[in-house]
Amino acid sequence: MVLTARGVTKRYGDVVALDGVDVDIAAGEVVAVVGPSGAGKTSLLKVVSGVLTADHGEVRVAGVAVGGLSEAERGVLRRTTCGLVFQSGMLVAELTAAENVALPLLLGGAPWSGAARAAREWLDRLGVDGQADRRPDALSGGQARRVAIARALVHGPALVLADEPTAALDSRTGDAVVTALLTAARAADAAVLVVTHDPAVARRAHRVIEFRDGRVAA
Ligand SMILES: Nc1ncnc2c1ncn2[C@@H]1O[C@H](COP(=O)(O)OP(=O)(O)OP(=O)(O)O)[C@@H](O)[C@H]1O
Ligand SMILES: [Mg+2]
Repeated sequence: MVLTARGVTKRYGDVVALDGVDVDIAAGEVVAVVGPSGAGKTSLLKVVSGVLTADHGEVRVAGVAVGGLSEAERGVLRRTTCGLVFQSGMLVAELTAAENVALPLLLGGAPWSGAARAAREWLDRLGVDGQADRRPDALSGGQARRVAIARALVHGPALVLADEPTAALDSRTGDAVVTALLTAARAADAAVLVVTHDPAVARRAHRVIEFRDGRVAA
């Protein structure tokens, strides 16, 4: 299993965001998480990626127990093993699209020339190579989302975590973005956990998990 979560709970003060969640995802598997606003979907992605720590339960990513890691170690795990596509704050405003995509490789110690080449390849694969030298504020929503997906996949993560990757996109652009994400993930045999309100995205998953009040409902 690339991801194993067992009995995961997370509270924010009095709010119980996750209430004993079990999830397993194997390599190559695409799992959609659906459910009403406030059900705990984003909290799950944050706990799995180590942005937040669970109060109880265990999360294992690629065999590593996330709860036993220091904050710095969680940062390394997130940067090397996970690829994140979150809704907001996705791209660094001061960097070009190509620099944004190269960033995970540069932070991992790759030389600039190799990182730049890989970034171009991924932008090309996602159909936004023409935007390589633009900064995020000069990209359309769909283009920015593709650049964010390229950045999430460039370092070959075992687990891709995407929060509403089609939000605020028209259905055709959303479809293209999801196709790009799933195609690239499949080629890398990555596991994908995608949070979505979009039935068209959920239909393309191997499995759909329904969240309700911090629990897996179905
Ligand atoms: N930083 C925080 N501090 C306090 N409460 C929070 C915080 N983040 C989330 N919550 C609360 O935890 C619950 C779960 O939030 P979460 O963001 O995981 O829901 P969600 O399923 O992603 O919802 P949406 O579909 O609207 O994105 C909600 O009640 C929310 O208000
Ligand atoms: Mg959310």
